[in-house]
Amino acid sequence: MADRHFSVAIDGPSGAGKSTIARAAARRFGFLYVDTGAIYRTVGFAAKSSGFLLGDEASVRALLPKLDIALGYDADGVQTESLNGMDVTSLIRTPDISRRASDVSAMPSVREYLLDMQRSLARRTDVVMDGRDIGTVVLPDADLKIYLTASAERRAERRLAELRSAGTEISYDQVLREIAERDERDSSRSAAPLRRAEDAVELDTSELTLQESIDAVCALIREKLGVDEK
Ligand code: DC
Repeated sequence: MADRHFSVAIDGPSGAGKSTIARAAARRFGFLYVDTGAIYRTVGFAAKSSGFLLGDEASVRALLPKLDIALGYDADGVQTESLNGMDVTSLIRTPDISRRASDVSAMPSVREYLLDMQRSLARRTDVVMDGRDIGTVVLPDADLKIYLTASAERRAERRLAELRSAGTEISYDQVLREIAERDERDSSRSAAPLRRAEDAVELDTSELTLQESIDAVCALIREKLGVDEK
């Protein structure tokens, strides 16, 4: 029998703290952390660099086979992304690329193309994978599914702090508006919309500190998978 690896799927709306929490939890158990949003961001970045208009699926579809997207990890376990050999890790973290990522992520051809890449990562090793459709589409047989949420206001506050520390000047109202728009687009699109898997455990982090959220996720992993932290 082929080696069976553990998989933990963490889904939820943007700004719920998925990446930070998933990365910390993966680290504690020695699992590989996969941020799938970054992969969509990289495709969005490629679409923008190619000068495509928003919604131009035919052009994006033709571009996909020419994209060499590689994931790596820095010394702190933070995922890095390269596109055709160029490090795009920080270039994909702008509001403009958030909009682009949301745009390409609604394209069925993009979702289908990225499905294999995501599944093959989970076949190779134990993973904590975060995204929007991991528990529903990418890894429907995940050992544990967590749906991580927080109120839009709390998510906007957190995103604002992140953007400001990266040197982006933006107002709270604009961040809140963009989050609301993105929630709406991500959950109303017809291709793999954001929704909680029926068998997912819901965790609302609005009133939790980051440390409490990480501890809650780790407790779920220990309980459900029967594994200990390294
Ligand atoms: O998590 P994030 O903000 O980096 O995600 C960027 C965009 O990609 C976001 O609009 C949702 C989309 N996405 C998706 O549709 N499916 C995933 N598995 C991950 C992200």
